[in-house]
Amino acid sequence: MLITIDDVLTQTELAEARKLLAASAWENGLSTAGTQAAKSKNNQQLPETAKHLPRLRQLVLSALNRNALFFTAVLPQRILPPQFNRYGGDTNFYGNHVDNAMRRLPDGSGYMRSDVSATLFLSDPDSYDGGELLVEDTYGSQTVKLKAGSMVIYPAASVHQVLPVSRGERQACFMWMQSMIRSADRRRLLFDMDMALLALRQTHGDTDPVIRLTGTYHNLLRLWAES
Ligand code: NI
Repeated sequence: MLITIDDVLTQTELAEARKLLAASAWENGLSTAGTQAAKSKNNQQLPETAKHLPRLRQLVLSALNRNALFFTAVLPQRILPPQFNRYGGDTNFYGNHVDNAMRRLPDGSGYMRSDVSATLFLSDPDSYDGGELLVEDTYGSQTVKLKAGSMVIYPAASVHQVLPVSRGERQACFMWMQSMIRSADRRRLLFDMDMALLALRQTHGDTDPVIRLTGTYHNLLRLWAES
């Protein structure tokens, strides 16, 4: 399931992120790719040593922390520090690949499982051609190209690619999350239920059945959550 979350970043945050990225030195993007993925990867990323990386990460993580839709869609247990990449010129695509299932924690204490992948678009879609994220979902392939500041989340288990950028530059932030709910099907069910409950509350208020159904949602979460 792909879920779009609009306006994750405010215009002020987006402007700051772009300014910091413009002042950064980029490196080849092979550092986070597995051996197989590396063969089809041709982009640039901010290195771990980049001066502005801590502030950029803080910007994105604080935006995610206040976003209720992000929480209910991902039910995050752990979020790996966000990273930043760009496509354009000679380094302009990332062919079909799958993301590694286990990712090393930055403090060296072990690994986390990647359940959900996310791309936060940072460039205006009109400023570049191509660069769509193409995800092979349960119901077929879907292409995604969002306005700057908006994010798409998709199952980390899916085969996906970034189509070649033929004009301009596509900057984005990407990250992986371990969910409290390991199963994508269960996450989907909980997400749909929570969205339906939200709509019910808005239409009917907190009636007794709505309260009971909300209890059922939380009890399912209790039953399935790993934390
Ligand atoms: Ni990927």
